[in-house]
Amino acid sequence: MADATEFHDRMLSLGLARVSEAAALASAGWIGRGDEKAADQAAVNAMRDQLNLLDIAGVVVIGEGERDEAPMLYIGEEVGTGTGPAVDIALDPLEGTTLTAKDMPNALTVIAMAPRGTLLHAPDVYMDKLAIGPGYPPDTVTLAMSPVERVQALARARGCAPADITVCVLERPRHEDLIRDVRSTGAAIRLITDGDVAGVIHCAEADKTGIDMYMGTGGAPEGVLAAAALKCMGGQIYGRLLFRTDDERGRAARAGITDLNRVYTLNDLVTADVIFAATGVTQGSILNGIRREPGWVTLETILMRSKTGSLRRIEYRSPVK
Ligand code: FBP
Repeated sequence: MADATEFHDRMLSLGLARVSEAAALASAGWIGRGDEKAADQAAVNAMRDQLNLLDIAGVVVIGEGERDEAPMLYIGEEVGTGTGPAVDIALDPLEGTTLTAKDMPNALTVIAMAPRGTLLHAPDVYMDKLAIGPGYPPDTVTLAMSPVERVQALARARGCAPADITVCVLERPRHEDLIRDVRSTGAAIRLITDGDVAGVIHCAEADKTGIDMYMGTGGAPEGVLAAAALKCMGGQIYGRLLFRTDDERGRAARAGITDLNRVYTLNDLVTADVIFAATGVTQGSILNGIRREPGWVTLETILMRSKTGSLRRIEYRSPVK
């Protein structure tokens, strides 16, 4: 009999990979079809069906929105059979809906699971984010530093010139000053049009991806998911929630957040051990996208556990029915 107080992360991890795979598989037919909503809905339905097969008493804390605005996988939705460990679930059934609709790189399905009450219940607002990969002393870069200071500090810590640093930034008008300031140091910028969970994960595999640091504002839910990935892979992330309207401040209050200016570190965003799975949808630099050959479909999933620091890359091949 499963013990509700224990997080059976080892046993649950393969189930989590299946959930992530199912969402990707469901979105496959929507790649490049120009319909973000349909792609997202297909991934949501499949993710929910698979999640409900797991022996967990799960609650979605990072989901597709609030109950009244999201038909499925809304914040607070209970998932799983209800008979296993009590867990928090953070998910994004399709991270990069536009990337999928346009068949652009690095769309992923993403899910993280942790003991109940240990993932930040981030409201759906923006978050100012800063992330670097593993191997640096704590606080090598901080949100209090200017973008120029962050590049200089990271270059010093890496023992290289600022010109050898590459920063990943979402391409948005709100980032124009940030982009100008970072480039003024000589550093390079890799602009992405969407998908900052993948953007942050790139920092954890800098040798492979060429990205040393992630900066800028994006979704707060994606910030928690990115923190879950870094908790497994190593690295540092800082996030500050940004509230633009009373409605957004209301969301914070409903999520139990009282200090609106707080800077969250990785261990504030994810306070205990976590498991994380992501499956490539479109071809990307951290995961292969869905490959279709006559009669077969092949997916690649990354599955990680923070307790052990283990990372699996799982290739899943399934006959097309
Ligand atoms: P969706 O896949 O839900 O469309 O979100 C993609 C994304 O690019 C996130 O990765 C990022 O955090 C957020 O949108 C940025 O928001 P905005 O498009 O408003 O700048």
